Amino acid sequence: MTVRALILGAGGQVGRALVAALPGASAPGRAEFDISAPAELDWASYDIMINAAAFTDVNGAQTPDGRRAAWRANASGPAALAHIARDHGLTMVHLSSEYVFDGASPAPYAEDAPIAPLSAYGASKAGGDLAVRVAPRHYILRPTWVVGEGRNFVRTMLALAAEGVEPTVVADQIGRLTFATDLAEAIVHLVTGQAPFGTYHVTGGGEPASWADVARLVYDLSGHPELAVGRTTTADYFADKPLAAHRPLNSVLDLTRAAEAGVALPDWREQLAAFVRA
Ligand SMILES: NC(=O)c1ccc[n+]([C@@H]2O[C@H](COP(=O)([O-])OP(=O)(O)OC[C@H]3O[C@@H](n4cnc5c(N)ncnc54)[C@H](OP(=O)(O)O)[C@@H]3O)[C@@H](O)[C@H]2O)c1
Repeated sequence: MTVRALILGAGGQVGRALVAALPGASAPGRAEFDISAPAELDWASYDIMINAAAFTDVNGAQTPDGRRAAWRANASGPAALAHIARDHGLTMVHLSSEYVFDGASPAPYAEDAPIAPLSAYGASKAGGDLAVRVAPRHYILRPTWVVGEGRNFVRTMLALAAEGVEPTVVADQIGRLTFATDLAEAIVHLVTGQAPFGTYHVTGGGEPASWADVARLVYDLSGHPELAVGRTTTADYFADKPLAAHRPLNSVLDLTRAAEAGVALPDWREQLAAFVRA
């Protein structure tokens, strides 16, 4: 099936993976298409708009300027895109985040769990989720802990390991990595498989772990002693960082709905091993 797709945010981790997964798609860069102020395009030449653009600087969004930029990119921009999608009959794919939840539940979060963001970033993403629902043909995907081409936790740990740094990492935030290439495939599967519209939680498979566990795995996989990574609590780590955003302790999402639509991403531990080897 040929997909006439427009990819927004093509320079980001998920955007790059989407460009690779959909070679025929249009993928204007940020300079050509700012989602905060959507440009006029020949919308009839597309069937699908995939919005992978976002303001993702979680701590930066806590500042006055950052909060405005986050709301423009993560809520007002997607709202405008959703109206375009509705008016032109496009399918809209939008990326959300588990930061729309407070992470206080001990159980995995289902798609319809109450939205209760802890941070300005989470609030702006929640605003986007609500706005995008105006497009009748929408898919909202919520990944967690994304790893791809770009800045991410795994790359940071690889760099620290190579420099011989012994970092202290929070051991009480639990989740699963989501590899951008797997997420891009999932998007293509949902869209081309004509899965029911709506919201889907899509993260790597396998048992959840803490950031400290992930860091230790990265050290081990890259040939460094895993015990070089110390463990701490979120409360202690952020005690001297009063301006940092609050983060959900439980980032584990319930993947049942995606599985029912035929989307089950590989175990994140296997993907991490492949990523570190590559
Ligand atoms: N990263 C994670 O761990 C994570 C977890 C859960 C959900 N998500 C969600 O997944 C999606 C993709 O995340 P990602 O990790 O791929 O993010 P990313 O690597 O930070 O990429 C975001 C891209 O959007 C671009 N962008 C920002 N504002 C824009 C604007 N106004 N107009 C056009 N482009 C703009 C950025 O350009 P610049 O580089 O120039 O800023 C960047 O290329 C986002 O919706 C994010 O909220 C991410």
